[in-house]
Amino acid sequence: MNRRPLIAGNWKMHLTVAEAVRLAQAAAAASGACPDRDVMVAPAFTALAKVCEAVGDTPLQVAAQNVAWDKEGAYTGEISALMLTDLGVRLAIVGHSERRQIFGEIDAMINRRLLGALAGGLQPVLCVGETLEERESNRTFSVLERQMRQGLQGVAKEEMFRLVLAYEPVWAIGTGKTATKEQAQEVHAFLRQFLADAYEKNIADAVRILYGGSVKPENIDSLMAQPDIDGALVGGAALNAESFDRIIRFQ
Ligand code: PGA
Repeated sequence: MNRRPLIAGNWKMHLTVAEAVRLAQAAAAASGACPDRDVMVAPAFTALAKVCEAVGDTPLQVAAQNVAWDKEGAYTGEISALMLTDLGVRLAIVGHSERRQIFGEIDAMINRRLLGALAGGLQPVLCVGETLEERESNRTFSVLERQMRQGLQGVAKEEMFRLVLAYEPVWAIGTGKTATKEQAQEVHAFLRQFLADAYEKNIADAVRILYGGSVKPENIDSLMAQPDIDGALVGGAALNAESFDRIIRFQ
């Protein structure tokens, strides 16, 4: 199956505007040098405008780290898809485990955000993943199934082609503990089968599923060699221009 790889950097709550612009310029150069793959960065909201301006018409894609469900309204602290597309933002991460664990976002809320992204013209990057406790009590697949079923509630078939999925085991994020390539492949295959069963095979074949959780230059090549791993969502290692460059240039 011919899915275009996507290497995504999630900068979380890091970088001033000037630092973000510098890092985006480096990522844009690496992206330009690798025309067979997509590259995306997700700066903090405060840096989005300047980063979009700086990357201009380079192939680097800019994403938001979250998105509200309505176009506008009384939602203190929220940013809408309309505000984001206005800047040139093209994608939005939804359901990141830090939103779920630290800020109490539940599946129903993540689903609304995802629908808001789609309605507002953004490509959603839906993150799913189990905690260590869920994995150790053999609930990995039931948790993922719930996150998928509830997160994708009401998404029309034709919209599914715009979706990107990210499998991020919570126990692997920021811990230096990567899932083995076998563990990641097993879950990716499960998620693809879920898409085939819930939608149809051509959707399952088309949707890109990224792996996230302590991706670094040392493990990117073996992760990307797995048949169902179509890219990476990179946190810590995306904050360093050199290591993100090496990840973008995976072999
Ligand atoms: P990490 O973060 O690469 O620092 O583990 C990944 C993520 O949370 O997207």
